Amino acid sequence: MKSAKIVGLGKYLPPKRLKNSDLEKIVDTTDQWITTRTGIKERRIAMDSSSSELAHRAAKRALKDAGLKADDLDLIIVASITPDNFFPSTACRLQNLIKARNAAAFDISAACSGFVYGLTCAWQLIGGGLYKNVLVVGSEVLSSITDWKDRSTCVLFGDGAGAAVLTQTNKKSFLSAHLGADGSRGNLLHIPAGGSRMPATCQTVDQNLHTIKMKGNELFRVAVRIMVDAAKVALSKADLKTKDLDLLVPHQANKRIIDAVAKTLKIKDKVYYNLARYGNMSSASCAVALCEAYQKAKVKKGDIVVLDTFGGGLVWGSCVLKWTL
Ligand code: COA
Repeated sequence: MKSAKIVGLGKYLPPKRLKNSDLEKIVDTTDQWITTRTGIKERRIAMDSSSSELAHRAAKRALKDAGLKADDLDLIIVASITPDNFFPSTACRLQNLIKARNAAAFDISAACSGFVYGLTCAWQLIGGGLYKNVLVVGSEVLSSITDWKDRSTCVLFGDGAGAAVLTQTNKKSFLSAHLGADGSRGNLLHIPAGGSRMPATCQTVDQNLHTIKMKGNELFRVAVRIMVDAAKVALSKADLKTKDLDLLVPHQANKRIIDAVAKTLKIKDKVYYNLARYGNMSSASCAVALCEAYQKAKVKKGDIVVLDTFGGGLVWGSCVLKWTL
């Protein structure tokens, strides 16, 4: 039976830093409020770069890490809620940027779970024998859809990209995945206008309907339960228990959410955090966190690594990996 393993990881964070003290000058907030309520200290801002450009830099690093060339890729999957355009897909733009002439390309819209959704698709497409080498990227320019006058959301988000190259193997590295969705709660986190439901007009722009709207309190309440359940289901599908886990790489929305997940799962010292430096980068958060954990040698061969995400949709996704890099 064929399967897939990760053979290369890369990340790109734009150099421009937006600190909490900078936000104090834009909205009625304080470093102390942001730090204690979210755990975030600063985030990166892409300025004039698009999601495909951030993805390009992360992808090149992941390919180099994998020792592969762009032409070796059979498929490119980009997860993003800030695509360059409705179409062509950001994956097609990335394909052109890296000159991956032999690769098919498509985007995934699964918000903060997009990277895990993408990895799961890649794993299954490789496992099914259709493809050999697949690039999965989570890339976001959330600063382009942030309402910089809304203090309840603008302090949370940041820009960045993370990429993984997967290749075919006979060994078991992807042990399980659990993806889920609850479309009835889509209004907890969304952008009201700009799509076919409410196309862009002067009115939608005047009413500021093209930026992120969030019911933070309600999301907070469901996030912990969703992430705990997703990790547990994914582990049980792999015939593993929480105690078998070596590292949890969670979506980085709020330190209090991650702390509560870690406490419930009783894995407090086995969690990778980076949101203090980057904030919530949606699909890029888990991708960048996984890349950093690997680069900082927080994972070693044979470790059980669990990716655990939730986001707007609502969606959630967790997958269990036996680390091979
Ligand atoms: N600075 C200062 N005060 C702020 C603030 C800011 N940036 N943002 C909100 N406040 C105020 C509110 O206006 C409110 O004031 P009030 O009591 O006078 O009405 C008070 O702080 C408490 O607001 P509340 O929304 O209850 O705060 P909270 O503790 O729930 O924290 C979030 C807010 C957004 C940080 C938190 O709810 C959260 O992280 N939710 C989940 C978000 C999430 O995960 N999103 C991404 C999903 S992928």
